[in-house]
Amino acid sequence: MIYKEIDKRKEARILAEQAITEGNPLDWFEILYSKSENTRAIIPWADMAPNPNVVEFFERNGLSGNGNLALKVGCGLGDDAEYLSDLGFNVFAFDISPTAIRKAKGRFPNSKVLYLIEDLFTAPVEWNGLFDFVLESYTLQVLPSNLRKKAIKAISSFVSPGGNLLVVTRARNDHENKGAMPWPLTESEVRNFEKYSMNCNSFEDYTDNENPPIRRFRAHFIKLVNGQ
Ligand SMILES: C[S@@+](CC[C@H](N)C(=O)[O-])C[C@H]1O[C@@H](n2cnc3c(N)ncnc32)[C@H](O)[C@@H]1O
Repeated sequence: MIYKEIDKRKEARILAEQAITEGNPLDWFEILYSKSENTRAIIPWADMAPNPNVVEFFERNGLSGNGNLALKVGCGLGDDAEYLSDLGFNVFAFDISPTAIRKAKGRFPNSKVLYLIEDLFTAPVEWNGLFDFVLESYTLQVLPSNLRKKAIKAISSFVSPGGNLLVVTRARNDHENKGAMPWPLTESEVRNFEKYSMNCNSFEDYTDNENPPIRRFRAHFIKLVNGQ
């Protein structure tokens, strides 16, 4: 089983390494998605189901969307965005990869989700403080560490005053090697959200039910209102 996992990530890891070496760390996503259409390249994160770590959060807390506006960061093939839509949110979902967005729209032709091709780092200024709920699951861990602070600042900016942000990511201790992509985050990296008026409401450090099990952080932040 472990060998299968490694194979599943091989192509993505090669492309990520190459893109970073060439100084274009965001280029490999579109390359991988489009390769997956014409070759046997695998999108390692495309489970074709909502993220169980997100589902568990909503089920445990008995939360629903109630018509609030949600944003899914790095939506990939759309499963988490559709889950939020089914919960009753009005959902914007974006990804840097045009192929991912086309595939998401194709998979969910009757979707109420607004799927958009956008780069997190150049997102529309109108998104500033717009969203009642923002979901970041698994994007930070595929960005090199030098881009993460910038990404965290951008993601925080999307949340409305009093709005919610859920972050789910692979986890490691400070002294542990970051290993290969997907690169786990440290707790202090995730807590960088607190620098951008995001108050940490809950922070979980746990091992999930995947095979093999993965250590995760799941953090829920609420944006301060008028800095309070
Ligand atoms: C690891 S995947 C996770 C996708 C989805 N959340 C899931 O769990 O299936 C990360 C996604 O973020 C997208 N992404 C990476 N950098 C991005 C950026 N700067 N702006 C928007 N999307 C980005 C990638 O194209 C990819 O679809």
